[in-house]
Amino acid sequence: MLPDNQSTPLRMGLIGGGGAGFIGKVHATAATLDNRAVIVAGALSSDPQRSRDSASMFGIDPARAYGSYRELIEGELKLPADQRVSFVSIATPNHTHAPIAIAALKAGLHVICDKPMTTGLDEADQVVAAAEESGRVFALTHNYSGYPMMRQARQMIAEGDLGEIIAVRANYVQGWMHGMDATQTPQRGAWKSDPTLNGQAGSLGDVGTHAFHLAGFVTGLKPESLLCRMQSYSEHHQLDDYGHALLQLDGGATGLITWSQVTHGRLNDLSIEIDGTKAALTWRQEEPNQLFVRSLGRPTQIYERNPNADYSTSQAVDACRLPGGHPEAFFEAFANVYSNAFDDILEIDCGESVDRHSTIYPSVYDGRDGVRFMDRCLQSNQNQSSWQSW
Ligand SMILES: NC(=O)c1ccc[n+]([C@@H]2O[C@H](COP(=O)([O-])OP(=O)(O)OC[C@H]3O[C@@H](n4cnc5c(N)ncnc54)[C@H](O)[C@@H]3O)[C@@H](O)[C@H]2O)c1
Repeated sequence: MLPDNQSTPLRMGLIGGGGAGFIGKVHATAATLDNRAVIVAGALSSDPQRSRDSASMFGIDPARAYGSYRELIEGELKLPADQRVSFVSIATPNHTHAPIAIAALKAGLHVICDKPMTTGLDEADQVVAAAEESGRVFALTHNYSGYPMMRQARQMIAEGDLGEIIAVRANYVQGWMHGMDATQTPQRGAWKSDPTLNGQAGSLGDVGTHAFHLAGFVTGLKPESLLCRMQSYSEHHQLDDYGHALLQLDGGATGLITWSQVTHGRLNDLSIEIDGTKAALTWRQEEPNQLFVRSLGRPTQIYERNPNADYSTSQAVDACRLPGGHPEAFFEAFANVYSNAFDDILEIDCGESVDRHSTIYPSVYDGRDGVRFMDRCLQSNQNQSSWQSW
């Protein structure tokens, strides 16, 4: 059912996700989960034929199955405004995000882009400039911020339930790189080990940026400086696959961000722990419907994702689709980022203005912060783990 502020679904152009591509299919599901968008066009692969051949996977009309993102933008601009795509979703390797996003914004299209926003800071500044000049929405899919219990945590912290925040620890730990066979080209994602396609930040860019974003999203704290130590343990991976960054945060709190793709047996173990002067909280992505809050001398409190519970905050309630006890997870959280971006797309399309600096969905500025985090970590690591100012 469409919300009151929307009469027809938005039209989506998907870029990436063809063949065995992973996250493009998640974008397709998340964007359409609430029937607020339909996929009408695609440029799904860097190979023009494979791009067109993949269109049927998404039910895209062959007439709007394009060979490249440039063809998509050119072809769509020829259509009447009420038929052409209103936004594109970018689910391609990292080095392509900036050129695709800038071209789409310049063509007047809203953009939902996957992370990291770009591979370098100069490009990140260019995307920020293009978003500001275009006046279009730019959202980045740091999808973990879409979980109801992360929104609950964010609001509880903003309302002072934890007291003053003194420390945050966020870890994103995987182990799949141990399974990589150097003699074989993986079915997908070979580009992640190639600095020209992935950028210089390996696991740091792939999963470290998610943990970094979540720490800032939940606490509202920004770094003042950081130091980083990272390693590459996987022989056939040219980039970092393990690292720690120690952060000095504004207001005096400290942060520790850890990323790994070489920890045996770990799948998508993203977790966050926050210490305040009154209480501490913990959350794990693999058990996303529970948030643990502890204070000295009291039993542990378990907040369940439950839109009908008195303790649920308004932002957590808004992020729920189902009653408590029916597990919601990855797709729903991803869809929440989309749904929040859709609200702004509709406002802008009606001629209203939106405040780009305080969106609940990750913005172009959050994207640039993520790229700055990568840049500062790389610089610190290259300089004997010296402190780098933000
Ligand atoms: N938000 C998340 O949780 C999450 C998870 C995984 C990946 N990602 C990000 O999503 C992006 C894609 O990652 P992936 O794991 O899906 O990679 P992948 O290798 O599985 O898929 C990449 C897709 O992009 C297509 N492609 C490549 N170049 C293209 C081009 N120029 N034009 C159109 N299509 C093109 C490929 O055909 C493929 O379908 C990366 O930036 C990655 O960091 C985000």
